[in-house]
Formats: sequence, structure tokens, C-alpha cells
Amino acid sequence: MEKLQDKIVFITGGSSGIGRACAVLAAQHGARVAIADLKADENSHATLQEIRQAGSEGYFVECDVASVGSVEQAIGKVLAEFGGLDIAINNAGIGGEANLLAETSDQGWEKVINVNLHGVRHCMKHELKHMVKQRNGVIINMASILGHVGFANSSAYVAAKHGVMGLTKTAALEYAHLGIRVNAICPGFIHTPMLTNAGLDSEEMKGTLQFIENAHAVKRLGTAEEVAKATIWLASDEASFVHGTGIIVDGGYLAQ
Ligand SMILES: NC(=O)c1ccc[n+]([C@@H]2O[C@H](COP(=O)([O-])OP(=O)(O)OC[C@H]3O[C@@H](n4cnc5c(N)ncnc54)[C@H](O)[C@@H]3O)[C@@H](O)[C@H]2O)c1
Repeated sequence: MEKLQDKIVFITGGSSGIGRACAVLAAQHGARVAIADLKADENSHATLQEIRQAGSEGYFVECDVASVGSVEQAIGKVLAEFGGLDIAINNAGIGGEANLLAETSDQGWEKVINVNLHGVRHCMKHELKHMVKQRNGVIINMASILGHVGFANSSAYVAAKHGVMGLTKTAALEYAHLGIRVNAICPGFIHTPMLTNAGLDSEEMKGTLQFIENAHAVKRLGTAEEVAKATIWLASDEASFVHGTGIIVDGGYLAQ
């Protein structure tokens, strides 16, 4: 039996990186998968193709998680398309500018908080409305090791991810008695477009990449698939007693 047989899964930021790996693995485990992202493009098309290759149904919905109206509309479309929502993976996120706190621009601060923190709140609000009615559901928020510890030059990102952990714990307390499980995944540094678009594979950033790799006990970055495996387990009934916590998938980053 597949872990998510016939479940309906909604994944924000599902066109790329960790979200895409979760979408494909969920499909391989028998789920119907709706991916939400800023716009339909070659990444969303490729993800849908992989979902279909896994023998499942895929659906793309345009959504800007920073806008509560956009999120409400997107979830409405998924409910109309698939007739339900069992599992939500609130994964969309951005890196933001690398700067000291006092040098971070106000716009840069607001953008990261709007997407990475308010975005998760907007999604949870509208997912919970549906899940409360059906008295069942699973929500997984993509947090980070940086929801547990600080990281220089990333104040907005770190603040947002700590906020996501707070939202996760609080919602778990509020909704567990209604049959809803709320948890987070806390990845270490993962080799995805978020990091490569920030130039981490470039010659100039070789030293930074080495520093980051060495901060993990395994001395390497993780892969999106390694995060997806933990996420799909957490979404499944195998994790039925796991509530209000963050599963750390970090190659030993937080162990030292
Ligand atoms: N890559 C890492 O090292 C790492 C580590 C820990 C946590 N995370 C978290 O994992 C999540 C996924 O990151 P990733 O590395 O796969 O990044 P990614 O850039 O590969 O993918 C992020 C996706 O989110 C989408 N997105 C961005 N803003 C959006 C918005 N406003 N509305 C809807 N979609 C939006 C992007 O278009 C993209 O498809 C993020 O929340 C990130 O903070 C990443």
C-alpha cells in the first residue's frame, strides 16, 4: 500500500526544488497533487509531467502566497478541481538579501516576511477552514534549521522561519482535537535553485559553499529528495502521533 493512496495534496512552491520533489514523491505514493506557484512556466509543466509519469493526477494553480486573496482563490480552485484537500505542504519561500540587520532594506525585510511568514499564515488559515469542516487533515510547513538557530546576514529569513515554528506549534494545539495534525520540516542547506540562483555554485562563492558544507556533520548539502522522503512520511498515517513539532532533516547541522 502506498503511503498517500488517494489523498489530495496541495503544495505551494511546488514547481521547483523541495516542493517539486515532494510533489513527485507524493504522486509516486498514490496522491493526487495540486501544485501552486507564482506562474505557470517550464518548471510547473515539468513537475506536472513527472506527476503524470508517476501515474497520478496533477493540477497547477497560480498563487502568490503573500496575498491572502490569492491563497483563498487558489485553495478554492483546488477544492473545485479535486473535491477535497487532505494534506497541505506550505513550502513556498524565498531567500532574500544577504545583509547585516541594520543594512537590510525595508523592502527586502517586508518581502521575506510577507512570503515566508505571512504566506504560511495565509495558507494555514484557508486550509484549516476546510479541514475543520471535514474534521481531518495534515498541514506541513517548510521551516528550516534557521527556525531554530540564527544565521548572520539573514535576519528576515531567520525571523520568518522562527515565526513559522511558532505558528506550527500553536495551530497544532488549537486543532489536534479536530483530527488535524500540524507539523514542520526543518531542512539544513539543500542544493536547490534557491541556493544556485543566489550564486552558491559560482567560483566567487566557493569559500562560502565550503563553509556551509562544513557546518553539516556530513560535510555536504542535502538533496530535495532527502527532504521529500521525510515530508511524505510526516504527511502519512505512519506519523499519526506526531503533532506540533519540526522534523529536523539537516545532515547534523544542529547537532554541533
Ligand atoms: N534550499 C535550502 O537550503 C532550504 C533550507 C531550509 C528550508 N528551505 C525552505 O524550503 C522551501 C523551498 O525552498 P527551495 O530551496 O526548494 O526553493 P526554490 O527556489 O527551489 O523553490 C521555491 C518555490 O517557491 C516559489 N515561490 C516563491 N515565492 C512565492 C510566492 N510568493 N507564492 C508562491 N510561490 C512562490 C518559487 O517560484 C519556487 O517555485 C522554502 O520555504 C525554503 O525557505 C530551503
